[in-house]
Parts: sequence; structure tokens; C-alpha cells
Amino acid sequence: MQVFNTAARLADFIKQLKTENTAVKIGFVPTMGALHEGHMKLIKQAKANADVVLASIFVNPTQFNDPKDLERYPRTPQADLDLLKQHGCDGVFMPAVADIYPNGTAENYVLDFQGLDRVMEGAFRPGHFNGVAQVVERFFRIVNPDLAFFGRKDFQQVAIIKHLVRVKHLPVEIVVVDTARSVDGLALSSRNTLLSADQKKDALIIFKTLSKAVELARTEKDAKKVKEQLISFFNTGSLRLEYLEIADDSTLQPVDTLKAGCTCCIAAFCGTVRLIDNMPLNG
Ligand code: PAJ
Repeated sequence: MQVFNTAARLADFIKQLKTENTAVKIGFVPTMGALHEGHMKLIKQAKANADVVLASIFVNPTQFNDPKDLERYPRTPQADLDLLKQHGCDGVFMPAVADIYPNGTAENYVLDFQGLDRVMEGAFRPGHFNGVAQVVERFFRIVNPDLAFFGRKDFQQVAIIKHLVRVKHLPVEIVVVDTARSVDGLALSSRNTLLSADQKKDALIIFKTLSKAVELARTEKDAKKVKEQLISFFNTGSLRLEYLEIADDSTLQPVDTLKAGCTCCIAAFCGTVRLIDNMPLNG
């Protein structure tokens, strides 16, 4: 597995690959490191769909609206490289901030997300999706992948990336991978390393509430009623709910009536750690 610390070195490698085999399919898995089995699910999918798999590890400053969150974001570069190597990743891009943002991180990036960024994560983390789109576009232009892999765990992020690809006509296919969970249901997340064993148990209320949403959606179609029941169930636990929404999969706007193609999304604080998760409702 090769490690590239600059965009220039990675570009040389990709150029060489494409010269040797013009039909080579490059699969790309962008990450912010502190890697776990959820990320590895993306790597496995990329290995299955592409000839060469490249991952990136870059804690992107422009997508953090809270400087404290950025500061304490877990960083485990050596363990990350070991895990990627074990899973047969071919190359890892680990650039410095100045390489990705040569004009500084305050540079303006404007994209009209047509409302996708105004709800849920976008409403509670102003500027977050702008930063995500900015860095993902930069990575796509450097790596020029045929396929790029994203987790459904970040449901709204997937919609934002698909929108970016569409409006900028980027020649990449987005592959969405299901959420990897612990045996008891907690969605794997880099932030889980910040939780104590007891907090991990408390955090299961998120999975339990989402499972209840799926169950309720089988018989009740009134989204308002379902939401009310879910929120009171959630509040029997000890987490602080930030939002619980039932969103349309394409517009991300809250639905009035439950139907196929909508997803229940939750963001909540477990102590000081912010967790998100979601589940599709097929009712
Ligand atoms: P990060 O949180 O490191 O996640 C990288 C990728 O792994 C994302 O596509 C995310 O949805 C996926 N992922 C995380 N936990 C997962 C799980 N439990 N199951 C399946 N997939 C999971 O998302 C980001 O980084 C950044 O915003 C990024 C896209 C890299 C841009 O900076």
C-alpha cells in the first residue's frame, strides 16, 4: 500500500496507472480517519467494484462549525494505515491542510444545495455541508475516481454529494453503502471512541427509537403522530435529542405522510458527544 502526502505525488501515481491501463477503474473512499469497521465496509465494497482502491485520510477543517469538535476529533493515523493495509487498500492520500487549501481555509465556496442543506444537520451545523462539498469536490478533481463510496450512516451527506456531482457534472458514480453497527445496534462512528462503556449502552436508545420507527411505520401513516410517539420514547433514555425527523429521501424535507422512500433521522448528544443515525422506513 502506498501513502501519498501531496496531491502532486498522488496525481503522478494515477497518471501512471491510467497510462498502463486506460480502462482501469479507480474506487475512492474519502474519510477523516479514526477508522473502524464502518469505513472498512466501504473499502470492501470498493474492492468488489473497482480495480484500484484509494482512500483519503483528512480531517477537513472547513466542515467543522465548532472549533472544539475539530480539536478533539480522534486522530489515529498509524492504526488507520494498518487497517487499510489489512483490507487490501492500494493507496492512501494523507495531505496537509495547505495542500488542499493553498489559499487558506477561509476561501469562499458557494454552491446552491436547493434546500438540502437547510434541514437537519445543515440547520444545526451551519456551513457544515459547504465544507463537505468543498473538500469532496477538491478530492474528486485530484483523484478523478470512477466510483466513490459513501456510507448511508451520513444520509444527508449522501444527498449533498449526489447533488454536487449532478450540478458540477463530475464524472464519478456514487455508491452508497449500508450502515455498519455493533452487535447491539449502535452505528459505528469515530466519535464512539469518546464514549464510556455506560454511555455506549445509553446511546442504544437511538437504534431502539429508529427500530420503533420502522415498526410504527407499518401501521401508522401520519408522520406527526409517529414523530410524537418516537420522541416520547426517545426521551425515556438519557440522551439529549437535537432533532428527530422523518425526511423524504430525495428532497430531505419532512414528510406529512409516511411512504416508501422516507427515512427517520436522529441527532442527539450523549454527554458532550454528538451522534447521528438513520433508518429507512419502507411502510
Ligand atoms: P468520516 O466520518 O470519516 O466517514 C467517511 C465515510 O465512512 C463516510 O462516507 C461515512 O458515511 C462512512 N461511514 C462512517 N460510519 C459508517 C458506518 N457505521 N457504516 C458505514 N459507513 C460509515 O464523512 C466523512 O468522514 C467526511 O464528511 C468526508 C466525506 C470524508 C469529507 O470530509
